[in-house]
Amino acid sequence: MKKILIALLVVAVAVASCIALIGCKDEEKKDEFIVATNAAFPPFEYKEGNKFVGVDMELAQKIADKLGKTLVVKDMEFDSVILSVASGESHVGMAGMTITDKRKETVDFCNPYYNASQMLIVPENDTTFDGLTTAAQIEEKLKSLSGVTIGVQRGTTGNYYVKGDADWGFDGFANVTCKEYDNGGLAVKDIQNGQCNYVVIDEMPAKQIVETSNIVNSSKKVKVISVPLTEEEYAFAVAKGNTELKNQINSIMEELKKDGTFQAILDKYFAAE
Ligand code: ARG
Repeated sequence: MKKILIALLVVAVAVASCIALIGCKDEEKKDEFIVATNAAFPPFEYKEGNKFVGVDMELAQKIADKLGKTLVVKDMEFDSVILSVASGESHVGMAGMTITDKRKETVDFCNPYYNASQMLIVPENDTTFDGLTTAAQIEEKLKSLSGVTIGVQRGTTGNYYVKGDADWGFDGFANVTCKEYDNGGLAVKDIQNGQCNYVVIDEMPAKQIVETSNIVNSSKKVKVISVPLTEEEYAFAVAKGNTELKNQINSIMEELKKDGTFQAILDKYFAAE
């Protein structure tokens, strides 16, 4: 009898500590603010050594602080960010992400915080787009070209803009080949290597990537054609129906705008301009 009692006790203790452990794990998860991003998109998110930096990453830290949680950044392919948020693996996607109707089918967006547009990167000595000042003119020119390859980051609005996609509201360019890369930096490198002709990517990353690429390979310089091709708004994405977090982030962002923090972060990262 005594033996049975002891055995029961041992089992009970084991079960209890298991439950306690699981509880702890849950507790830990609750204290984290998990952000999904693709840290290859300067000045919004990129890495300096092991550190995540950029506008979105600083905002992520501020938001985590205000929520009283520990920031955890998950770096992944850009086209995984939405899935990570939708599946609940991450709490929020912060990735210079454009609000689109297509994405709204999968996630909810917080209020927009930045206006952006796609731009074209070309070799410095390329004169194809000289004198063109509107998106319509550039698009007309792109439609008239053949045998041209344009690089884009996979899953981005630039990708759909070049490839053409009815769901995304883009016609595309019949005779242009769209080449998809893991990130914009690799695409621009391929212009320099002669593997693609042009790159389409968001304006600020275009400028920063061009600057770095011209330092890394100064014999094959590239430049940005400063004509906005699209009109886009960036926003953070939360899981569909997570109104609580969406509202929290919206009001924290309001505070950060009011007290000047948001502008200071923009100034810090756009100073190179
Ligand atoms: N704004 C574009 C989009 O939403 C590109 C974003 C890419 N972001 C990144 N972190 N790589 O599709």
